[in-house]
Amino acid sequence: MAELDWVQNRVEPGRTDAEFPIDWVRAQFPALARAGSFVFLDNAAGAQVPQRVLDAVNDHLLERNVQRGGRYSRSVEVDRMVAGARATVATWLNAADASEICFGMNATSFIRLASLAIAQTIAPERAEIIVTDLDHDANIATWLALTAPGLSFAWWRMREDGRLHVEDLLPLLSEKTRLVACTAVAHSLGSLVDIPAVARAVHGVGAELFVDCVHYSPHAPIDVQAWDCDYLVCSGYKAFSPHMGFLWGKRERLRALPTFREDFIPDEPPFKIEAGTFIYENVAGMAAAVDYLESLGRHMGATGDKRAALIHAMEAIRAYEAELSRAMLAVLNDNGAIIYGVGDPGHVDRRVPTICFNFEGVDPAEVVKRMAAAGIGIRDGHMYAPRLMARLGLSMDSGCIRLSMVHYNRMEEIERFAAELRTILRS
Ligand SMILES: Cc1ncc(COP(=O)(O)O)c(C=O)c1O
Repeated sequence: MAELDWVQNRVEPGRTDAEFPIDWVRAQFPALARAGSFVFLDNAAGAQVPQRVLDAVNDHLLERNVQRGGRYSRSVEVDRMVAGARATVATWLNAADASEICFGMNATSFIRLASLAIAQTIAPERAEIIVTDLDHDANIATWLALTAPGLSFAWWRMREDGRLHVEDLLPLLSEKTRLVACTAVAHSLGSLVDIPAVARAVHGVGAELFVDCVHYSPHAPIDVQAWDCDYLVCSGYKAFSPHMGFLWGKRERLRALPTFREDFIPDEPPFKIEAGTFIYENVAGMAAAVDYLESLGRHMGATGDKRAALIHAMEAIRAYEAELSRAMLAVLNDNGAIIYGVGDPGHVDRRVPTICFNFEGVDPAEVVKRMAAAGIGIRDGHMYAPRLMARLGLSMDSGCIRLSMVHYNRMEEIERFAAELRTILRS
């Protein structure tokens, strides 16, 4: 298998809007039309939602905005909706069982919940946790905050190319390693991490792998069974859904976690992981977002079951987004940007279209303000990644500029960004 083939990356050079149903896609997202000429290039901070997600949330609130567990039909329907959403998300992830999907508020609270539980199971002779300096701080600080007898930490550091290389993890792993926490793709630099290879290495020493899939989920197919990780966390609002989060874990791993639960909550996943009531309408929205992705697959001619249609859609998204990356990297290179991480348009297979950059002697905030005034939404700052900023030699105050595209962005928007950028840099 070639490097990063696991993201099912069929990136064919020259693929364009014409082959990807971009008009159909954009028509599914009413916020895009409402926004007029505004260009959404800050999608890593939260993506727009398709009409069917709005409908699902609305429908839930209108038809069954009641608590679960009652005997009347509305309440029974809530139970049914949650069960259906679990099955839908399980299909999206290729989970072995729907009970491995636990719903909640967001990714950070799940990383905190899982890490606190894991800390209680740490034996002094296997008490090392490995974190990276590429991750969002939600998947670093949460682990560093743990206390347990003998607990220590090691750092898997990215290389100068802005990527985490499995070869650098290998010497860190030993029979002392309890867990490795890493991202599937950097929410800042956009660089992919070879999760199946990481899982093989981690399991080779009897440790566990916790994957932050928050930034990866809108960009390419997920397959927790093929990846063979132990835990994985996602956040709905990054993946065309409203705000909510979910944790997936191998059933036996989740069963072994000592979590808080009231006496009346079954000591079984998913219930033992779901503290209190979560936002049912947003869970309905998450399931509808997955259904939207399935409908994209069908629109593009997918036959077969839901999983097959989802893979079809996510592969098409991956290929289309590679073209967006290629075009945007070319624009940035032409304008003399310092691109952090994979900046070569020939290596778009190593990244998603989330790009951090700066211009020599130019305040990132100034560029972002000017873009905002021109109706283009991008972001500047530390990207919630203090360790990464330190590695890049950037201050937490000014940081860098980030733009992040998803599959509803189009080439014309890159051209608009390019024209505005030229104006800003000339003045
Ligand atoms: C890669 C990554 N991990 C974790 C988080 C935190 O997610 P949440 O806001 O759902 O807690 C984010 C949010 O931006 C993220 O991008």
